[in-house]
Amino acid sequence: MTRKFQSTALAPELVDGLLDLARRAPSAGYSQGVHFLALSGDALANFWKVTVGDEWFDEGVLAAPVVVLPLADPNAYTGRYAEADKAGHGLEIAANWEVPFWLTDAAMATQNLLLLAEERGLGALYFGIFRNARLALDALGVPDHVLQVGAVALGWRAATDAPSGSAITRPRRDRIEVVHHNRW
Ligand SMILES: Cc1cc2nc3c(=O)[nH]c(=O)nc-3n(C[C@H](O)[C@H](O)[C@H](O)COP(=O)(O)O)c2cc1C
Repeated sequence: MTRKFQSTALAPELVDGLLDLARRAPSAGYSQGVHFLALSGDALANFWKVTVGDEWFDEGVLAAPVVVLPLADPNAYTGRYAEADKAGHGLEIAANWEVPFWLTDAAMATQNLLLLAEERGLGALYFGIFRNARLALDALGVPDHVLQVGAVALGWRAATDAPSGSAITRPRRDRIEVVHHNRW
C-alpha cells in the first residue's frame, strides 16, 4: 500500500483502462454486480470532506488524485439466482446467502485493481470508509441498495513513499501457521 502520493492528475484513459481490466474479475453466476465509481476533482474533495478523511489520513494520502469506490449490487445476484438455471436454492433472497458473493466479487475486482496499479508503476491504497459512508454515496447518486466495500486511492508514488502502516509494525505470519494440509 502507498500512503504518499503525488498530486499529479492521472490521465482519464489510464484510469479507465485500469478499471476496464479490473472489472474482469470472476463473478458468481456471472452476475457482474460490481461497479467502480472513480472520483477526482470536486467530487473527490467532497468525498474526503463528508467522510472526514483528514481524521484518518495525512496529506500524503489526501494528495492522491483519484479515489475509486468499488460498489456491490446485491440485487444483481438475487436477480440472477432467481433465473431458471440457478433457482430453487432460496438465493433470490439476500439474507439466505451464507457467503454474500457480491462482497466476494467486489473484493476480487478490487484486488485486480491493486495488482494492475502495481503493474503500471502506480501507487494504490485500499482503505475503509469509517465515517458517513452512506452520506457520501448518496451525494454521488449511488442507489440505496448498493453497498460500499471501502475505497482505493490511486496515483503516482511520491519519492518519499516508503513502507508504512501495520505491515511495518507486525511481521508476516509464518507459512506453516496459515497454510494447512488435510487438517487445520
Ligand atoms: C480489508 C482491508 C482494509 C484495510 N483498511 C485500511 C485502512 O483503512 N487504512 C489503511 O491505511 N490501510 C488499510 N488497509 C491496508 C493494510 O493495512 C495493508 O494491506 C497491510 O498492512 C499490509 O501492507 P501491504 O499491503 O503494504 O503489504 C486495509 C487492507 C485491507 C485488506
